[in-house]
Amino acid sequence: VLSSCGSDEGGTTSTGADVIKEGTLTVCSDVPYPPFEDFDKGSEIGFKGFDIDVVAEIAERLELDLEVKDSSFDALQSGQALNAGQCDLAASAMTITEEREANLDFSDGYYDSQQSLLVPTGSDIQSIDDLDGKTVGVQQGTTGKAYAEENASGADLTSFPSDAEMFQAIKAGQVDALLQDLPVNLDHTKGGEFEVVETYDTDEEYGLAIKKGNSQLVDDVNGALEEMREDGTYDEIYNKYFAT
Ligand code: ARG
Repeated sequence: VLSSCGSDEGGTTSTGADVIKEGTLTVCSDVPYPPFEDFDKGSEIGFKGFDIDVVAEIAERLELDLEVKDSSFDALQSGQALNAGQCDLAASAMTITEEREANLDFSDGYYDSQQSLLVPTGSDIQSIDDLDGKTVGVQQGTTGKAYAEENASGADLTSFPSDAEMFQAIKAGQVDALLQDLPVNLDHTKGGEFEVVETYDTDEEYGLAIKKGNSQLVDDVNGALEEMREDGTYDEIYNKYFAT
């Protein structure tokens, strides 16, 4: 039996991607989280970063416009925002975890990451063993927070809703160290005021989170990611942010 697909059913999107707003890929992200997501007032979409470039490329390949919404990471990782229909996809440097997979679907992994410890340059804290009685900033709902809870039990953890608030707190001397994803902590060392003293090989992989059950969008996104890896676009974007 020959089945015909791609027949003209009068729809207006040529890919038929299952999205909340016709013709648009609506993406939630907890901004800023450099170099993955940041504000970019001058640009058309208002945001920039590795994740933003990746989803812009995916949207283009699915023939959709891109709209980005700033959101709370905790609402994204819990599945709350996606399941409430606020966006189609969360691009937020989000690690694929079993716990999250109970409430969310994920694309294939698109970035390998690990945890790390950031301190003011010259601090007497040089490793996780030096954290007893010290205050350590972590972000709510993150794998970094979970890692700190398991591995730095003598530390006094302070949970912040965002990386911006964590970074502000360490600048103001309100916390002694930050424990979070290595690439973001490394971004904070650029001015020389802070250093990363230890990294932890947690073997994390970031995925794009999608509302549970929207398997069509998962397939569409994975198809676009695969094409991008094959034709060199992924490497181009990667090198723009992480070339050594
Ligand atoms: N990768 C970590 C996690 O999934 C931290 C992600 C935080 N992302 C953000 N945009 N604030 O828990």
